[in-house]
Amino acid sequence: MRELLRSLPALSGDAPAFDPDAAPDDPLELFATWFATAVERGVPEPHAATLATADADGRPSARVLVLKDLDADGLAFATDARSAKAGDLAVNPQAAVSFWWQPVVRQVRVAGAARYLGDGVSADDYLARSPASRAAAAGVRPEEPLPSVAHLRHAMTQARERIDAEPGFVLPTWQAWLVVPEVVEFWQGSADRAHVRLVYRRDVAGWSHGLVWP
Ligand SMILES: Cc1cc2nc3c(=O)[nH]c(=O)nc-3n(C[C@H](O)[C@H](O)[C@H](O)COP(=O)(O)O)c2cc1C
Repeated sequence: MRELLRSLPALSGDAPAFDPDAAPDDPLELFATWFATAVERGVPEPHAATLATADADGRPSARVLVLKDLDADGLAFATDARSAKAGDLAVNPQAAVSFWWQPVVRQVRVAGAARYLGDGVSADDYLARSPASRAAAAGVRPEEPLPSVAHLRHAMTQARERIDAEPGFVLPTWQAWLVVPEVVEFWQGSADRAHVRLVYRRDVAGWSHGLVWP
């Protein structure tokens, strides 16, 4: 395994030009620009991000999910209130989100407080999902053991029948959350290893930013 790992290339993408001196004052503006570039350059599923949370004892856990929105307030995602991540956020509302866009050798890291966006936004998000996605979410019973994949498919089929019969059904445990950024880092990899890290921090006066050593 060690030899295999060492034989693999890293940072093999094609880095677009990035001038940190011309970066905007607002990191979410830069995020939107970088995201648009990722889409233009064909980065696969650039909206997939790793969300890290920690429980009441500080034990971390991380998983991939999709970004649902980005606005001036922050980054939105959606999940089930019965999930481990929602349990973590209920007791420790601090989160970190990271994106890795390999084809453009770019990483973006966001950290901040997470807040529940409320029942209305959550219902809108749920209803905007495809019927298959709504059924997949509605079929799960995290509080019960899952004996087989066949059980899972059966539960999803039943949920799909309910959704087809009742298109306005909203899963009551579906939750939209917002990560309100306090620190945002833009990492532009470089073939010569002079990677550029531009870090934004928010305080009472607003955003400030500067370079840090890679
Ligand atoms: C590409 C991808 C997208 C995903 N999108 C979501 C999502 O938007 N919301 C979500 O709750 N889980 C999503 N998941 C599943 C999570 O990674 C995770 O397995 C699940 O939410 C349970 O996580 P938890 O037990 O840590 O809460 C996605 C997984 C992958 C690989």
